Amino acid sequence: MCGIVGYIGNKKAEPILINGLYKLEYRGYDSAGIATIEKDAIKNIKNKGRVSDLEKTDGIENLEGTIGIAHTRWATHGKPSSINSHPHLDNSKHFAVVHNGIIENYADLKAFLEKQNYTFLSDTDTEIIPNLIHYNFVQDKKDDNFKFLRAVKNACYMLKGSYAIEVISDYFKDEMIVVRKDSPLVIGKGINENYISSDIPAILSYTKDFYLLNDNEFAKLTRENIEFFDENLVKLEKAPINISWNPLAAEKDGYEDFMLKEIYEQPRAIRETIWAHLPEISKCQMDELNFSKEYLEGLEKIYLVACGTAMHACLVAKNMLENICEIPAEVDVASEFRYRNPLINSKTLCIFVSQSGETADTIAALKLSKSKGAKTVAISNVSGSSITREADYTIYTHAGPEIAVASTKAYTSQIALLAVLTIYFAEILERNPVQVSNLKEELYCLPEKITDTLKCSNRVKSFAQKVYKEKDIFFLGRGVDYAASLEGSLKLKEISYIHSEAYASGELKHGPIALIEDGVTVVSVITTPSLVGKSISNIQEVITRGAKTFIITNQDLEGHTFDEVISIPKTSSYVSPILSIIPLQLFAYYISKEKGLDVDKPRNLAKSVTVE
Ligand code: G6P
Repeated sequence: MCGIVGYIGNKKAEPILINGLYKLEYRGYDSAGIATIEKDAIKNIKNKGRVSDLEKTDGIENLEGTIGIAHTRWATHGKPSSINSHPHLDNSKHFAVVHNGIIENYADLKAFLEKQNYTFLSDTDTEIIPNLIHYNFVQDKKDDNFKFLRAVKNACYMLKGSYAIEVISDYFKDEMIVVRKDSPLVIGKGINENYISSDIPAILSYTKDFYLLNDNEFAKLTRENIEFFDENLVKLEKAPINISWNPLAAEKDGYEDFMLKEIYEQPRAIRETIWAHLPEISKCQMDELNFSKEYLEGLEKIYLVACGTAMHACLVAKNMLENICEIPAEVDVASEFRYRNPLINSKTLCIFVSQSGETADTIAALKLSKSKGAKTVAISNVSGSSITREADYTIYTHAGPEIAVASTKAYTSQIALLAVLTIYFAEILERNPVQVSNLKEELYCLPEKITDTLKCSNRVKSFAQKVYKEKDIFFLGRGVDYAASLEGSLKLKEISYIHSEAYASGELKHGPIALIEDGVTVVSVITTPSLVGKSISNIQEVITRGAKTFIITNQDLEGHTFDEVISIPKTSSYVSPILSIIPLQLFAYYISKEKGLDVDKPRNLAKSVTVE
């Protein structure tokens, strides 16, 4: 939540910062602001609303500074307003700060600073930070090259919570200080210029060489140099990593919205994710993992832990792991898992799935599992993200940058990778070779089948045009189709704001059926051959009560009448949501478009939830 960007170099900072903010807007879009060091002072311009509103704000075109920081906000403390926008300045107006995270002890620190006669303009937790920096700056009687860095470090020492912070000061016109703890921050290295960002794609068009800060590490940037320090300001050596992503992958590429582009990228994303680990003919290779047969045989349980869409991918994987590997698997929401004292020991394997690799609850759940003696595997889409640096092992999805807040290609890639992981475990364990070989064959065919499935787009769009004004839409499914329904329903509510629930079809009669009345739309996913009859009976029950029905199926449902049926290719039941979700992604997309909403940036949401 919240995006931060920074620049220090010889070019005008403002256009670079604005460009970065546009790319980070998916992280929050309640307000935006920019501060640069001008000839005689820091100039701070901020506004409620989006980056496009900031761009139109008076005076922004006059910013000439070549050092600057900028922020796009997802409000936590203090409502979205100009005054609560970042950057925040200290009372003396010599220090400017942008911050992503939450300062938990801000009330105590505010009271402390008020006693020292500091005053505050905003309701934010962030405004204490520049003032704490100023406080520590004036307390420090030493005058050397590290005075600015020391002031930031001493201020951070007083903070509790999470933060990625950039600081500039007009006392130090050729320096920028950054620090992170539990919030993401990357540094892009250029030639006589350096960049800061919350994520890599936002600055990928300027550089491919990145430094990753770990928690409690500081960096002091000048135009030519980047120095790294630990929490005690002991100097650290770091090597840059080279990112091979194509910057164009983070552009819309002719599509109206990122979400639509990302839906259509799924054949490629799945192909690359599968081929990275599953070469044809030979056994599954996962060089990143080194699990022995003895270790896997000794496992008592696998936990799959994640949030949001990633958790829905885990629900799909549970079945595969239990049936093919014969290891009990449990899925949990990270925010619950971390506080419920789960039974974990060295015979537990914990898998954490996170597209961004920055979700605060998922990272905390991973740390908890490690502390209880479990081995931990991270599945992420972002190279070098925080979760990958905490986990014992990491495997990557190859979805490429996902920009739209509503996740699409990351979800299907996560299921594909979890299927590959299942195969990897089963091959080591020498269990269920026939199922393993069938699943492998199906995985290879998936990219082509996704391409076929995408052909349903026009029919889905027509149905969306009929129902987009509805207040409630329900989803039904059994088994793996229930997992797909949960994800379809989440997509719909995220971007269309239509109230939606997904139910296990068998639960219908235990309450939800009371909500079905004339004209209500019910979406049902039916792909599991053994459950077709039962699912059809449940649909009949809602039709009898007046529901309109929208069916996604790979079965022959001849003899039954529904309002719309989308036929998708057959595949293994273990991975069928990779296909059945596609019409549901498109359904949510076209409803949102019909309603004239911002598909890529739905209200109140952020792509990366770095606060609890
Ligand atoms: C947010 C996003 C979702 C995402 C979830 C988990 O809620 O809007 O799209 O599924 O976070 O994110 P992660 O990066 O951990 O997969």
